[in-house]
Amino acid sequence: MTEPIIKIDAISKSFGTFQVLDGLSMQVMPREKLALIGPSGSGKTTILRILMTLERIDAGHIAIEGEQLYHMPKNGGLIAADERHLTKMRQKIGMVFQLFNLFPHMSVIDNVTLAPMLTKGVARAAAEKRAMELLDMVGMSEKAKAMPAQLSGGQKQRVAIARALALQPKIMLFDEVTSALDPELVEEVLNVLWKLCAETDMTMLLVTHEMGFARDFADRVLFFDRGKIVEEGKPDELFRNPKQERTQTFLRKIIAAGHRV
Ligand SMILES: Nc1ncnc2c1ncn2[C@@H]1O[C@H](COP(=O)(O)OP(=O)(O)O)[C@@H](O)[C@H]1O
Ligand SMILES: [Mg+2]
Repeated sequence: MTEPIIKIDAISKSFGTFQVLDGLSMQVMPREKLALIGPSGSGKTTILRILMTLERIDAGHIAIEGEQLYHMPKNGGLIAADERHLTKMRQKIGMVFQLFNLFPHMSVIDNVTLAPMLTKGVARAAAEKRAMELLDMVGMSEKAKAMPAQLSGGQKQRVAIARALALQPKIMLFDEVTSALDPELVEEVLNVLWKLCAETDMTMLLVTHEMGFARDFADRVLFFDRGKIVEEGKPDELFRNPKQERTQTFLRKIIAAGHRV
């Protein structure tokens, strides 16, 4: 039997006195395409940031490919992971954010080569060769020498995807990557996600308000509210026939806001 690539076990997370996650558990299988949907503030970004080790957890465990993310074995027990362990584990995961966070003072290709050169000690020539392949994959090789400020939002997101792929992650996290884009630029970014889906066997977790895309793309949809999974299922079932009232209300609002479901 195949083991989950991500195993989240009873994690909790508070910001000050505000508890965002309270004993959340979920699992993701290798190659699975998962859509995380739910109202603003329900904890979707927090979950991705925790997986990316940008936030720590207060309680619980996370295993990536069977290996603890925030813990490491010692004397037969588990202790908190040190920075070295986190750095190693982080390389399995790539993330693309809602707001393009390219390094503004670096060219497109330097954005993509930076992490492999810095964290993996890849030589410049090899890093650039690989970067050009990735930029080609996202349709941005002609802009390799451009600066981020010269790009459209859709182009910036495509470069951000290439940059996240440069460390050859097994898991990719996408946090509302089209939300900040002008409508006519959304498609070019979604097309890249389709391409990743077709050409790689990465596991992908996608927070999105693009319900039409989620329905076509995802193997499974999780609906979050207040840090909890209220409902989950295959996209066709969940979108066509949501069982929980909170899911129904959310989907009604999304449609009223002009999103295609
Ligand atoms: N760094 C932070 N400090 C304080 N509160 C935070 C922080 N990050 C997120 N939150 C709060 O946690 C809740 C969940 O946020 P988030 O994970 O961003 O939700 P979503 O992505 O579903 O909109 C929100 O109420 C948000 O205000
Ligand atoms: Mg969010």
